[in-house]
This record gives sequence, C-alpha cells and structure tokens, in this order.
Amino acid sequence: MTILVVGGTGRTGRRIVAELQRREMPVRVLVRDEALAHQVLPPGVAVQVADVTRPETLAPALAEGDRLVVATGANPAKDGLFGPLRIDFEGTRNLLAAAQTARIQHMVLVSSLCVSRLLHPLNLFGLVLYWKRRGERLLEASGIPYTIVRPGGLKEEGGGRPILQNADTLFEGSIPRTLVARLCVDAILEPRAHNRILEAIADPNLPDDLPFAELLP
Ligand SMILES: NC(=O)c1ccc[n+]([C@@H]2O[C@H](COP(=O)([O-])OP(=O)(O)OC[C@H]3O[C@@H](n4cnc5c(N)ncnc54)[C@H](OP(=O)(O)O)[C@@H]3O)[C@@H](O)[C@H]2O)c1
Repeated sequence: MTILVVGGTGRTGRRIVAELQRREMPVRVLVRDEALAHQVLPPGVAVQVADVTRPETLAPALAEGDRLVVATGANPAKDGLFGPLRIDFEGTRNLLAAAQTARIQHMVLVSSLCVSRLLHPLNLFGLVLYWKRRGERLLEASGIPYTIVRPGGLKEEGGGRPILQNADTLFEGSIPRTLVARLCVDAILEPRAHNRILEAIADPNLPDDLPFAELLP
C-alpha cells in the first residue's frame, strides 16, 4: 500500500503525512510548490509535483500509489474567488479522471461540515461549500471506494474525543487538525468507513480513548 497525499503542504495535509510516517505507512506527497514542500515537510519524504488544476500532472503522479488522500483547499489570497470552483470542484474532477486510469483503490476527501447548506456565510467566499459538495458528488458517483471526511472548524491545537456522525447531521463544532489527520488514515484502513460520509468534530472534555471502529456512527 502506498498512500498519495494531495495538499500535503497544507496545515491538515502535513499532519496527514506525519501520521502516515508515524505508522510507517509508505507515503508520497503531491505538491504544487516543490520549494514550499521542502520547507514544511520532513526531510526524506517522497515529493512529486502535481497541481489539481493541471490534469497532465496528475496521471504520472497517481500512477505511483494505490490510495489517495485529498486535503487540498482554496486560499482566498492565492487562488481568488474562483479558487473553490477550480480546486474543490474541477480539481476533484481532474483527480478522479486520473484515479480511474490509475490503480487507486480508495480515496479520502477532506471536505467540510455544512456543504449541503447553500445559505451559509462561508459561501460568500466563491461558493466554497457549494463547490465542495459538487466535488463530493463526483466522488460518490465515481465507483472508486471513498471516505468523505467533513470536519468542523479546524484548530491548530488541542485534543479530545472525535465525534463522528453521518452526513448532514452536525452543523457546528470544531476539531484539531491532528485528529482529522488520524481519522483520514483510520478511514483508509477500516472497511466499515468506506463509501461513507463522516462528519467530524471533537469534544475536548472527553478522553481520546476510543478506537476508530467504536467512533463510527
Ligand atoms: N479552515 C477550516 O476551519 C476548515 C473547516 C472545515 C474544512 N476545511 C477544509 O479542510 C481542507 C484542509 O484545510 P487546511 O486548512 O488544512 O488547508 P490549507 O492549509 O489551506 O492547505 C491547502 C492545501 O491545498 C493545496 N492546494 C491548493 N491548490 C492546489 C492545487 N491546485 N493543486 C495542488 N494542491 C493545491 C495547498 O498547496 P500550497 O501549500 O502550495 O498552497 C495546500 O497544501 C480544505 O479543503 C478546507 O477547505 C477547513
């Protein structure tokens, strides 16, 4: 098993890479900016240039692994108002087209709580939730086994017990990025998490003492 991480230079993506390394699972990181990758990723991690908006970069990159974790996200400053359309929707479409011809056996997509709510303030940024949901739907229809992880507000620090629920159940809450990273890796390994949408927040007042299988709704 080799896990390809797209968006691995991101704040959640680099924690996914760290979690895979902690579990000694082979990982390759697909990055759009190689110089940034060398700054933020641990030395020695395999890096390949791939941009989800440039389909020609994806086929060779996706041929190098068999599991895919997607933690990309549009940045208002870097990507502008069309960022969500180009990255969350078209980027997912491009990844799926490449994954169909590669040997990708499972894909984890980091999405967001509230993607089914059009009238949500986050949609003021380029309809970001709308385009994320459109991307999710492409994945659901793709035939590629998947887990969609929809986290609440992402926190840099903290702990607690992850709370997992089915689609369109949770509408508020937050979760540390380290816990999201762990859930993404657990989702690859646990067949009961496949072909599901999992909404994820954390309760900081509860101990982080349950195995993933017991967290599943
Ligand atoms: N912030 C929140 O509270 C929150 C809540 C729920 C869900 N989410 C979602 O969770 C996901 C992860 O969030 P985050 O805060 O960890 O993201 P982040 O730090 O902004 O990282 C985004 C990653 O996506 C990469 N990326 C962007 N465009 C790309 C492209 N065209 N090709 C390849 N890679 C590209 C970035 O690369 P560069 O490093 O080169 O820019 C970066 O590695 C996002 O989808 C976000 O919308 C966020």
